[in-house]
Amino acid sequence: IAPDQINAAGHLTIGGVDSLELAKEYGTPLVVYDVAQIRRQIRAFKKVFEQRQVDYAVSYASKAFAAIAMYQVVAHEGGHVDVVSAGELYTAIKANFPMENVSFHGNNKSRAELEMAVDHHVGMIVIDNFHEIELLNEVLASRDQSIDVMIRITPGISAHTNKYIQTGQVDSKFGFDLQSGQADEALQKILASPRMHMKGLHAHIGSQIFELNGFQMAAAKLVEIAAHWRDEFGYEPEIVNVGGGFGIRYVSADHPLKPEDFVAAIIETIKEETQKLNLKMPAVWIEPGRSIAGPAGYNLYTVGSRKDVPGLLPYVMIDGGMGDNIRPALYEAEYETVLAADPQAENAETVRLAGKYCESGDILSQHQPLPKTKPGDVLAMLDTGAYGYAMASNYNRNPRPAVVFAENGQAHLVIERESLDDLVHLDRSYSQA
Ligand code: LLP
Repeated sequence: IAPDQINAAGHLTIGGVDSLELAKEYGTPLVVYDVAQIRRQIRAFKKVFEQRQVDYAVSYASKAFAAIAMYQVVAHEGGHVDVVSAGELYTAIKANFPMENVSFHGNNKSRAELEMAVDHHVGMIVIDNFHEIELLNEVLASRDQSIDVMIRITPGISAHTNKYIQTGQVDSKFGFDLQSGQADEALQKILASPRMHMKGLHAHIGSQIFELNGFQMAAAKLVEIAAHWRDEFGYEPEIVNVGGGFGIRYVSADHPLKPEDFVAAIIETIKEETQKLNLKMPAVWIEPGRSIAGPAGYNLYTVGSRKDVPGLLPYVMIDGGMGDNIRPALYEAEYETVLAADPQAENAETVRLAGKYCESGDILSQHQPLPKTKPGDVLAMLDTGAYGYAMASNYNRNPRPAVVFAENGQAHLVIERESLDDLVHLDRSYSQA
C-alpha cells in the first residue's frame, strides 16, 4: 500500500475512493480495481519497447480478468488482448475491442470458436496442434477468407514458481513438440496453405515466474528456431511472442523483478541472439495477464464470526472465500490482508482468515497478522486482481461478488453482484412423470 492510499480518516483508498465507502455502497464481498494501476503497468511495458525502438504488442492475457470494462481499458491504452474461448471473445466483441488486436489461443479450439474468430476477423490465431490446422483451413475455405497465424511451440523449458527446470523431454498439452519435428511439419503445412499467413512463433513457459533465466532461455530458443526455419525452409518469422508469466509480489517473501524489467532483459536476449544468427530483429510480443490485473485488484470482505482454538491460530471468518478466490485452496497461494479502516494499525494477533464455504480447505490465509478485529470490520485482501474473480464459482450457491472500477476518486460498478434469482435463472423444475 502506497502512503497516498491512506486518506485523512486513516482509511485505505483504492483509486482515490475510500474502501469503507465502497463496502458500504456496494456490499461485500467486493472486488475493486485501481484502474490507474492497470494503465500504469500497460504503459510501463510499452515504454520498454519504445525506448529500444523494437516493434511490439502488449497483449493482455484476458483470462486473468475478463470483463467488458477491462477490455475497454486495455483498448484505451492501445494494448492487444489474448482470448482463449468463445466467451472471452464475445466479451471483447461486446466491449467493441478492435478485433485486429485480438489473438486467439487454446489447445482445443472448437470449430464453432474458430468460425466465430474468423467471422469477426480476429487479428491472430495461435495454432496449437495439427487438428487445428485442418479445422481452420476448412473454416477459412468455407468462407473464402484468410487469416494471420502463429505457431505455438513447446520450448523445452518448464518453469515453476520460483524455479525452472530444463527438460529434454517436454510434457505439456500445449503447442508443437520440437524434438520430434512436429513444429517443422506444422510450419510446412501452414506455408502450404494459401489461407493462412504465417507471422511468427510463440512460447509460454508458465506463470508467476521469478527467475529471469527461464525467460531468456525460451527467448533464445525461439530465435534459434527462427534461424533454423530460415535456413531449412526459407521462412523468417516477423514476430516472436514470448508469452506471459512475469511474477508479482503477493507477500513480503516475494522479491520479483519489476514486470517491465523481465521484458527488457528478454528483448536484449532476442537482440543478441538475432545478431549472432544474422536474423532481422523481429517484432516482440508479450502476453502478461497477472502482472497487469493482479496488483490492481483488491477483495473487500466483512468480518463475521470467530473461533478460538486453544494453542492454535484463531479463525476469523469472512463473508467470502473459495467461491471468489480459489487460489489459496487450489495452489496454496498467499496474500496479504489489511484492516480497511486502518491499514497501518499495529497488529495484535496472527489469525487464519476462513471463508464461509462448507469446506475445511476454504481458508484464504493461513497466517495473517492483524489488529484485533470485531464483527463488521472490513478487510482488504491485496493483489487479488488476477485469477480471482476470473476463477470465481457459485459453490454452495453463493452469488459471485460485484466488481467496481475506481479511478480519480470515482467508483463505477462494472460487474453487478449476482442475485439469488441469477442463481436459479437457468434451473428448470422437474416433476415426476
Ligand atoms: N499466455 C499464455 C499462452 C498463457 O497460457 C498464460 C497463462 C498467459 C499468457 C498469462 O500468464 P500470466 O502473465 O498471467 O502469468 N490460474 C493460475 C494461472 C494460470 C495461467 C494460465 N496461462 C493462477 O491463478 O495462478
